[in-house]
Amino acid sequence: MKRIKVIGKQKLTGTITISGSKNSAVALVPASLLSDEVVEIDNVPNISDIDALSEILEYLGAKVTRNGTKMKIDSSNIQNREIPEAISKKLRASYYFMGALLGKYKRVEMYFPGGCSIGERPINLHLKGFEALGAKVTREGNKYIVEADELTGANIYLDIASVGATINIMLAATFAKGTTILENAAKEPHIVNVATFLNQMGASITGAGTSEIRIHGVEKLSGCFHEVVPDYIETGTYVIAGALCGENLKIEGAIPDHLEALISKLQEINVPITIGKDYIEVSKGEHYKAVNIKTAVYPGFPTDLQQPFMTLLTQCEGTSKVEENIFENRFMHVPYLNQMGASITTEGNAAIINGKTELSGSIVEATDLRAGACLILAALTASGESVINKVEYVLRGYEGIIDKLEKVGAKIELEEIE
Ligand code: EPU
Repeated sequence: MKRIKVIGKQKLTGTITISGSKNSAVALVPASLLSDEVVEIDNVPNISDIDALSEILEYLGAKVTRNGTKMKIDSSNIQNREIPEAISKKLRASYYFMGALLGKYKRVEMYFPGGCSIGERPINLHLKGFEALGAKVTREGNKYIVEADELTGANIYLDIASVGATINIMLAATFAKGTTILENAAKEPHIVNVATFLNQMGASITGAGTSEIRIHGVEKLSGCFHEVVPDYIETGTYVIAGALCGENLKIEGAIPDHLEALISKLQEINVPITIGKDYIEVSKGEHYKAVNIKTAVYPGFPTDLQQPFMTLLTQCEGTSKVEENIFENRFMHVPYLNQMGASITTEGNAAIINGKTELSGSIVEATDLRAGACLILAALTASGESVINKVEYVLRGYEGIIDKLEKVGAKIELEEIE
């Protein structure tokens, strides 16, 4: 097990450089197998979710070379075989192999994906999309066999603007005959990043970033060079760290436009913040005001920042309310924040935060990726020493988090225990 130790109340100053987006990279890597030629992706974050996806690609016979943030994938000799449960369960994004293998070989055999336990997270919309394209889905326990003689473009309406289903249907429809019209599609920046990647390889996708995406089927994809977009959730996490403990903390290599919902809430709270073209500079201010947030699909307030943002709300004067509208089980950090001195109650999908409360160091546990980030922020803010156990979750999604925070003044270390 890995744990992080933090001695809180250090001033964070200097510059943090943002890595490539986890949720974009975890789709680009499986998407690369749609091409028969070598694909090069740059700005790939060095996180364990990418290691797990490389393992799946290599298991299928692809040649994967990594050099720093550069990744070269040669899928010309892959074999379409069943992906064992042990590897598909390692992460959520293994589900992108469903769309990619189905799209390319018209057949995929794999298991229900893993990922953070933040809700039930069914994949019914992915499967409905595949069926609409002409595939037959057979379920044997946790295993899915999805196959088709031919995939044909269709009109698909998503009941929920799901990120995973939007990307998976784009992947499956890339080689389908005719045009697929995907309505109520998700609009997150990583959807645009994936569509651009596919188009660079020769796909014909329009409308990504709006709620209607059109995928005109093509016959072949070639190689390309592509960059992963900066991670707006990582950016938001460090911006919140700056609001809690920063003195002119500069978060660079970011796209502030992707974070409008967070930035407007920070301004409402009274956080001193300067927005540049590709950076955000933030300091800890005085007398923060309580605010309410409701998580929503992009461009609404991101669910992935709800947990880190709650740490900031513990430092706001008055009563704040958080409504979590995307996942049913994303308040597992709350008992730990309360253990550190916060005053938070939850009822259904709402959390009420009474502030401001002083936080003090404690021994807590990362129950999922963003809960871990939330607790690291709380530990940076708290007096004394905190220990955050089970931080493997955090290392799945934040590249070099220890080094990045240490470099700007945090007292933080990673320990490996048996
Ligand atoms: N949903 C369904 N059926 C489906 C698909 C989704 O009911 O077939 C529901 C989900 O249960 C959830 C909602 O729709 O309540 C939204 O789910 P979505 O499909 O958008 O999420 P996801 O694909 O499972 C991705 C990210 C998450 C991020 C969400 C929302 C990856 C690998 N994961 O998950 O990232 O929270 O989109 O933006 O891209 C994280 O980074 O911490 C994380 C959990």
